[in-house]
Amino acid sequence: LFTAVEMAPRDPILGLNEQFNADTNPNKVNLGVGVYFDDNGKLPLLQCVQAAEKTMMSTPTARGYLPIDGIVAYDNAVKSLVFGADSEPVKSGRVATVQAIGGTGGLKIGADFLKKVSPNAKVLISDPSWENHRALFTNAGFEVDTYAYYDAEKRGVNFEGFLASLNAAAPGTIVVLHACCHNPTGYDITPAQWDQVIAAVKAKGLTPFLDMAYQGFGHGIAEDGAVIGKFVAAGLNFFVSTSFSKSFSLYGERVGGLSVLCADKEEAGRVLSQLKIVIRTNYSNPPIHGGAVVAAVLNNPELRAMWEQELAEMRVRIKAMRQKLVDGLKAAGVKQDMSFITTQIGMFSYSGLSKDQMVRLRNEFGVYGTDTGRMCVAALNSKNIDYVCQAIAKVV
Ligand code: LMR
Repeated sequence: LFTAVEMAPRDPILGLNEQFNADTNPNKVNLGVGVYFDDNGKLPLLQCVQAAEKTMMSTPTARGYLPIDGIVAYDNAVKSLVFGADSEPVKSGRVATVQAIGGTGGLKIGADFLKKVSPNAKVLISDPSWENHRALFTNAGFEVDTYAYYDAEKRGVNFEGFLASLNAAAPGTIVVLHACCHNPTGYDITPAQWDQVIAAVKAKGLTPFLDMAYQGFGHGIAEDGAVIGKFVAAGLNFFVSTSFSKSFSLYGERVGGLSVLCADKEEAGRVLSQLKIVIRTNYSNPPIHGGAVVAAVLNNPELRAMWEQELAEMRVRIKAMRQKLVDGLKAAGVKQDMSFITTQIGMFSYSGLSKDQMVRLRNEFGVYGTDTGRMCVAALNSKNIDYVCQAIAKVV
């Protein structure tokens, strides 16, 4: 049965973890996967999460099946976070939200649902995009192409090209957009440019699918989420996938969601019923713990304030490491101007290093980034930064 089964390549991101774990270099640094580590190189367990878990453990509960679409209080918290608790879409009940197995799960539920309602649509992802976007939508049965995004020479966004790609797309094309903290480049478009993107999406009748995996890591929770309000104001129906992996440091709990903004409450009910079929036929219903923790934090003013503070600390530390990286590279003798690193936002820096340079970094220095030159600056700290700068200086 399996004689013709070929060995699949390693995952371009998570596969690096396997390689990193097997590396015996005592100085090794993992800048591959998008995970935040604190200044001691530790994965944080947020205080707000600990407080919520303590309360949960003081009144242990049995674990029955969750509803197919997840914990009601969780789904409502996601809706409020994404659209605003007092927003018209939430108040009118026209958002269908389901708990998902991480942000990836939200994307997959949306992709499978879209394949049913729009089977012949093409999907456009940014060039470049998170590696899994192409694989995920391809596996859902779509033909996936790209829209122009990164301008290597300019070290920024090729905005004219981006708009031109949207304007050239056929009506009904699904466009996967990074709501904030573009992965992998770290270059976001401005609010005024979003207005132009939204106008093009509307004029061409495209279907927007916003991936919001890094809300709070750019300029702030509200600031990063503001783009959602712009899509609402434009009168569009759209998809938003949410992830709490990074913002709650709950990677392994796989806590995410999918929200679909519909025309009205009745339509949202029908859409929700279809999302539930996608879930039921894939994994039946979601797990409890991560969703319960996030719901407990988001729905409790004290814990929520704690979360906002802890998320702000992560955001501020990442920004400080960007500056330290620029300064450290200069001090290590890198001649080229690396100040672009501080104009990028979120967890990643698209370093501009070639695949060969990234492979050398990995093999000779144990510094892991993706082959595309993406480095997770959220894993830099005051102890490993000098080593990383020296290593980069030797390969550029
Ligand atoms: C990343 O881009 O590194 C993260 O989103 C983790 C992942 O699942 O790839």
